[in-house]
Amino acid sequence: MKVLGIESSCDETGVAIFDTAQGRLLAQALHSQIPLHAEYGGVVPELASRDHIRRLPRLLAQALHEAGLSAQALDAVAYTAGPGLAGALLVGASFAHAYARALGKPAIAIHHLEGHLLSALLAEPAPAFPFVALLVSGGHTQLMRVDGVGQYRLLGESVDDAAGEAFDKTAKMLGLPYPGGPQLAQLAEGGQGGRFTLPRPMLKDASLDFSFSGLKTAVRETIAAPDWKDEYAPALAADFQQAVIDVLLAKADRALRQSGCSQLVVAGGVGANRALRAQLSAAQAKQGRQVFYPPAELCTDNGAMIAFAAGLRLQAGRADVQDAIAVHPRWPLEAVAA
Ligand code: KG4
Ligand code: ZN
Repeated sequence: MKVLGIESSCDETGVAIFDTAQGRLLAQALHSQIPLHAEYGGVVPELASRDHIRRLPRLLAQALHEAGLSAQALDAVAYTAGPGLAGALLVGASFAHAYARALGKPAIAIHHLEGHLLSALLAEPAPAFPFVALLVSGGHTQLMRVDGVGQYRLLGESVDDAAGEAFDKTAKMLGLPYPGGPQLAQLAEGGQGGRFTLPRPMLKDASLDFSFSGLKTAVRETIAAPDWKDEYAPALAADFQQAVIDVLLAKADRALRQSGCSQLVVAGGVGANRALRAQLSAAQAKQGRQVFYPPAELCTDNGAMIAFAAGLRLQAGRADVQDAIAVHPRWPLEAVAA
């Protein structure tokens, strides 16, 4: 089956085609709205929705062209139904439903985080079920036990800011441009850690939950202190990044131990962070465990993960075929679990 995937939950417009028979992506087209939102310092929802409308038809044509397929060759149209920005989600959902209706093919709703966590199955080598997934994106920080397609159990999550949000807000405080996370990571790479003592929130806490807002406050106070100098920015970025990594490492380790799983999957935009990847892989290798990451270009939002998740669901006989347009801006992943 050839599955079209459409992602429009936030500030990336993604369209891709996955072929379940060949087990590979036939095409991917992506447009990032970062330059559009940059001058506002963050995502402007209405601008995001309007830009998705503008980009989708062209990205679709591009993906079909790259795959060498006619529209009629598609077997299903999948789209992100949530969580995300309501207007942005509605654009993708309406577009997907209209297109599916015109082709006489099913429209399949996909949960954005399911797309992220299953995208690690496109890595080589790929993990096998069961595994623990650490989802670290701009909107979520969660640990999930994954026993199969559609079999997800929440083990722990952030009680306040998401890890990506903490990166973005800290970057903003340091005067870095939106979206911040990747720029902060880059600044940290050139900084010498150890100058600042920052908290590791909930590190010792026995639960698998996270909290990042205290860390953000500590950064704000550090910058506001009378002895702050702008030249300390790389050092503070390095210490901030290390604080986040220490917490993610410790909680992921605890989740693996408690669940008895020996494989960890890291997904979501923060999973692109090089220092996080290096330290997680090294720490888990010492325990005889393996860590898997989606291919780098699939860490941040894209249409491929939506097409792929829908392909897996179709193969498992678990596709959520929708007759009407409905989106879920807030939507726990466990709601789509079997
Ligand atoms: O998964 P994603 O593309 O979108 C959401 O679903 O939220 O994740 C975006 C988040 C942003 O907060 C961004 O700053 C962060 O991932 N991010 C990073 C890096 N690349 C992206 N954070 C830290 N280091 C990176 N290299
Ligand atoms: Zn995402």
